[in-house]
Amino acid sequence: MADSFAVKLEEKKYYPDPQLKAGAWVPDYTQAYQEFLRDPEGFWDGIARDLSWFEPWDRVLEWKYPYARWFVNGKLNITYNCLDRHVAGGLKDKPAIIWHGESGENRVLTYEDLYREVMRFANGLLSLGIRKGDRVCIYMPLVPEQMIAMLACARIGAVHSVVFGGFGPEALSMRINDAEAKVLITADVGYRRGKTVPLREIALEAIARTPSIERVVVLRRASPAVELDPVRDVDYAELMARSAPECPLEVMDAEDPLFILYTSGSTGAPKGIVHTCGGYAVGTYYTTKCVFDIKENDIYWCTADTGWITGHSYIVYGPLAVGTTVVIAEGTPDYPDPGIYWRIIQDLGVTIFYTAPTAIRMFMRYGEGWPKKYDLSSLRVLGSVGEPLNPEAFEWFYHVIGGGRCPIVDTWWQTETGMHMVTTMIGEPMKPGFAGKPIPGAVVDVVNRHGDPVAPGTGGFLVIKEPWPAMLRTVHRNDERYRVYWNTIPGCYTTGDLAVKDEEGYIMVLGRADDLIVVAGHNIGTAEVESALVSHDAVAEAAVIGKPDPLKGNVIKAFVTLCVGVNPGDGLTDELARHVRKTLGAIAVPAEIEYVDRLPKTRSGKIMRRVLKARELGMDPGDISTLEE
Ligand code: WT7
Repeated sequence: MADSFAVKLEEKKYYPDPQLKAGAWVPDYTQAYQEFLRDPEGFWDGIARDLSWFEPWDRVLEWKYPYARWFVNGKLNITYNCLDRHVAGGLKDKPAIIWHGESGENRVLTYEDLYREVMRFANGLLSLGIRKGDRVCIYMPLVPEQMIAMLACARIGAVHSVVFGGFGPEALSMRINDAEAKVLITADVGYRRGKTVPLREIALEAIARTPSIERVVVLRRASPAVELDPVRDVDYAELMARSAPECPLEVMDAEDPLFILYTSGSTGAPKGIVHTCGGYAVGTYYTTKCVFDIKENDIYWCTADTGWITGHSYIVYGPLAVGTTVVIAEGTPDYPDPGIYWRIIQDLGVTIFYTAPTAIRMFMRYGEGWPKKYDLSSLRVLGSVGEPLNPEAFEWFYHVIGGGRCPIVDTWWQTETGMHMVTTMIGEPMKPGFAGKPIPGAVVDVVNRHGDPVAPGTGGFLVIKEPWPAMLRTVHRNDERYRVYWNTIPGCYTTGDLAVKDEEGYIMVLGRADDLIVVAGHNIGTAEVESALVSHDAVAEAAVIGKPDPLKGNVIKAFVTLCVGVNPGDGLTDELARHVRKTLGAIAVPAEIEYVDRLPKTRSGKIMRRVLKARELGMDPGDISTLEE
């Protein structure tokens, strides 16, 4: 591992409207953080009491490094918190899900509707022999049934493993086999850019290699309806029709597993991250409510797919536990045209909009004309997740989409953390390029390889120093891999990210440690150089890698996509080099710039630098099962 290194920080501050702070769930960040530090267990105890439990916990936390148990002996069911209590508590007619289809139709499910559907499907799963602890694989498009399937599993204590509907047969069968799932829930097709994605065909190819699968439930959307295998397959609608809309729930221990989710694999082979019922419910409920500052009348839209952790935590469990209205939209952000997201925000009156830097940079590439056509005045809070939000994208998001009114919560977290860990809480001053500070409840720091905090302005490893409720409990069938997270840097959970703090404690994430480039003895984070390139008007997106060099150890090579209508004319490469020199200094100037039409990304939208590097150096790229086609 590399040592700490100096980073040049450039700071700009945005002061939000003071009124935001006054009305927020967490009106004073500093005070809330101090309260948490004074009594961490008391802090989480208080939050957990907002949820409904069947039996209280004996202890908030039992910590035997690196194993944590939260809300020890507490009993609950997360679906009771997401559904039953809202239906009983006056929210039964409130829309829980508003689904927007590619062809423009909307489908609304109230909390009561969702509650009934979940119970029907839970009974359906029971009738197929699924019991508490069994694994169920969900491979579906972004439709309400995907969420219903997840919640139905959770209701009866089955462990779901959701596989994003964009994955191919290899990725699907590997995940089914690793989890030994007994039932696969899929659909005939998904819809994407006006075309169908043959999910069932892919699923059939996958299950030819998965001995554990006993039954396949198929949601049939297309007409004429596909033929089903009379023995193995079950039609979703038929299963629902023959199942009762009342299903008693399984009383779950706080530490029972809730789901397995495989990491996105931007830096290595996917790992089956295991999350549990109690701590995960508490962590996602709290962060959804407080980080997005959700109020009664909000219409909340997270553009992720439910198949990622972002969808698990911030489409399904967190938002439903809070009782908000969740928008989901099948399809892509540029179909039928690049104005579709802005039209959905206008038409549905979306107030909270949570998306990813890769999408924001794509919208920037298409220009301001698209969002300007729509009324975005309903928006109140903007969110970002997945990669560093470079200052250029921050500014655009803030001004063009948020009209300079809406705070941006740039949320840093991981599949493994289950919940937000670092952000700028609503009402706090925002610094473009910085995710922000640890949220009340999280102890996050930047350290050297020995675990000692590094000085402000010095880059190092981003670590988490104390257990948190929604933390992963293990890696499925690979607990040794779990321990690696906690024994790489003494006393810390290693996130694998590089970061730097400023004098005020704001954290800037520099990228994955695996992507670090060492040029002439200097450590350079990929995110810094990429951000410098993207801050040039001509550049839409950039990825940089290190290339071995006999003199300097490594030199930087940049892959750049240009904004629509820009050509890499004669002088552009020199100009970009000058631009990086001006912003970051000579050490960070790419030795080579290659213009490309697109960058290799994971299906969740993260740039896969190791694929670029392997191609450049003629090496084996390793596991590329999560690469976008
Ligand atoms: C990795 C985790 C967390 C949900 C989606 C991704 C990067 C995530 C940010 C952010 C800078 C970020 C990190 C992290 N990342 N959010 N706001 N700023 N980097 O989950 O696939 O498990 O990826 O995504 O590198 O470690 P994931």
